[in-house]
Amino acid sequence: MSKIRILSGMRPTGPLHLGHLHGVLKNWLKLQEEYECFYFIADWHALTTEYENPKKIQGFSKELFFEWLSVGLSPEKSTIFLQSAIKEHAELYLIFSMFTPVAWLERNPTYKDMLQNLKNKDLATYGFLGYPVLQAADILIYKARKVPVGLDQVPHLELTREIARRFNYLYQVEFFPEPEPLLSEIPKIPGIDGRKMSKSYGNAIFLNDPPEVVRKKILSYVTDIQRPRKSDPGDPENRCVVFNLIKLYFNQEEIEEIIKGCKSAILGCVECKKRLAERVITNLEKIWEKRKEIEKNNWEDLLYKGIERARKIARQTIEEVNSILGFTYKF
Ligand code: TRP
Ligand code: SF4
Repeated sequence: MSKIRILSGMRPTGPLHLGHLHGVLKNWLKLQEEYECFYFIADWHALTTEYENPKKIQGFSKELFFEWLSVGLSPEKSTIFLQSAIKEHAELYLIFSMFTPVAWLERNPTYKDMLQNLKNKDLATYGFLGYPVLQAADILIYKARKVPVGLDQVPHLELTREIARRFNYLYQVEFFPEPEPLLSEIPKIPGIDGRKMSKSYGNAIFLNDPPEVVRKKILSYVTDIQRPRKSDPGDPENRCVVFNLIKLYFNQEEIEEIIKGCKSAILGCVECKKRLAERVITNLEKIWEKRKEIEKNNWEDLLYKGIERARKIARQTIEEVNSILGFTYKF
């Protein structure tokens, strides 16, 4: 029985943090065992917002790839590749752009949100408006059935489905499947200021932070503000953002002990955060170790197998699409 094909990508725009690790990558690792997975580095998509500094993208792509492998994504189990290495994505994007109504793109809520959030950049570009068309090409060129993404990406995926439907309708074929989002329960990962962890908030713990930086950042977390002194009893489940991390890094028994200690004012926040910091570091150490091993290789060599595998499928799809359109030249 063949496995269901899924596909997802990430834009290489900077180092990964604990939010990516627990919110995205842990899920990808699990999916790796169940599905035929395609994971790719969306470097062309990074260009939509970084077009003024395109030279940074290659470094971020390499970094992202090494981090993916360090946390356990496997080039044997999954097809891992780089978007810009498969030129067929661009060809399918061009074809899709011919019949995608501009109104579909303009009403996309994720597009409107991003325009709002990235006010410091000029994003009134053709490429940025067309972002979800390229994303549709990424997905449909492999005829992926499911796409593991966060809620913010659901409108993009709806557009992918509309584009697939429109292609099938216009050319009277049953060619592209309509991919579904694969939503998973995503744990809340707060940054050190209590807001959602994000590079742009400056509140993130990065996977490549040295141990002393991790320690310092964790100790600076805001905790239960109704508990300024250790002698004040706490309420970890309802009033402490750090507890979200505690739940991820300790086992049930340990968690109960922490709750008890906190509620009875025996365990102080400094002590509690110190314990958490050591646990986080122990976990990151495994990633750092693996990273050292992997870095002995050339990243392009490691990527090559995935690129070849992806390219074969992408070429096949493009050939079929061109044949549907009657673009069947011999030269
Ligand atoms: N837009 C996605 C993001 O910002 C990245 C992405 C590009 C993607 N192409 C994709 C995700 C295809 C899933 C499938 O996170
Ligand atoms: Fe949060 Fe730990 Fe402080 Fe309790 S002791 S408020 S769980 S940091």
